[in-house]
Amino acid sequence: MSIPEFIYGTAWKEDRTSALVLKAIGAGFRAIDTANQRVHYYEKGVGKAIQQALKDGLSRDELFVQTKFTYSSSQDGRIPYDPTAGTRTQVRQSFESSLEHLGLDYLNSYVLHGPSQMSGWNVTDRAAWEEMSAIYDEGSVRHLGVSNVRPNQLKELLSSGKVKPTFVQNRCFANMGWDKHVRAICSENGIRYQGFSLLTANPYVLKSLVDVARSIERTPAQVVFRFSQQIGMIPLTGTTSRDHMAQDLDLDFTLDDKVMDAIENSFIG
Ligand SMILES: NC(=O)c1ccc[n+]([C@@H]2O[C@H](COP(=O)([O-])OP(=O)(O)OC[C@H]3O[C@@H](n4cnc5c(N)ncnc54)[C@H](OP(=O)(O)O)[C@@H]3O)[C@@H](O)[C@H]2O)c1
Repeated sequence: MSIPEFIYGTAWKEDRTSALVLKAIGAGFRAIDTANQRVHYYEKGVGKAIQQALKDGLSRDELFVQTKFTYSSSQDGRIPYDPTAGTRTQVRQSFESSLEHLGLDYLNSYVLHGPSQMSGWNVTDRAAWEEMSAIYDEGSVRHLGVSNVRPNQLKELLSSGKVKPTFVQNRCFANMGWDKHVRAICSENGIRYQGFSLLTANPYVLKSLVDVARSIERTPAQVVFRFSQQIGMIPLTGTTSRDHMAQDLDLDFTLDDKVMDAIENSFIG
């Protein structure tokens, strides 16, 4: 599976995770995002759905599966590795546990859930990235990614890491130019930007797009997702609704330059 255009996210679904992932696959999603972080994700439930879909005839090559390594500071008591071990061992154990949860022998993308501190790319982050790079070199993941990064952290990763990330996954606020500083570094370095909370972080944008959306017989959510794709992002959605799943995948339209420019620049605070 090559790089997807839209990703189904699995956070906050608890015991509905399997059923919702199967529903999303049934609706046509072929890319799934999760994390080995039990407090927000149920990775084993994602795995149960994937195994069912494969049993029902979906080929592994048609699916893009992405999960994350999460530091113990962002975990609850249910840590999928020995938190007293060194960082590289933690990453290795978490990765092996992810493969087991998902029932897979390789991942399409493995993401560092976030740097260990709010600023800087420190020795812990370098160690985590080294182990992720080793897993990449072994062929067990097709791409690496990093999430929740600020511009300087991404620059430091790019100057120190042996393997470059294919993906950045960030929360995308319209009033920050849709994360324009991070996106600029991504486009300079051939990195694909995955945007989350495109709807939930920007409710006022959705309100302002009611007329535009009506004029092209789409919904404001579809306009935001299409806008994100046209500026080069890969959007994530974690919708639980069958209708919204269908709408989110039905983005076969083009926004004109005037609308694109207005969405990109009107909301900067
Ligand atoms: N890396 C990180 O730290 C991080 C953090 C947060 C999230 N994520 C990832 O990103 C995924 C998505 O999270 P998110 O924060 O973007 O969103 P989310 O929590 O999945 O929420 C999306 C919201 O938009 C609604 N929605 C979706 N499509 C819609 C449509 N067409 N029309 C109207 N409403 C629509 C959904 O409601 P309905 O259910 O009613 O459709 C839901 O309330 C997560 O599941 C996770 O995989 C990653």
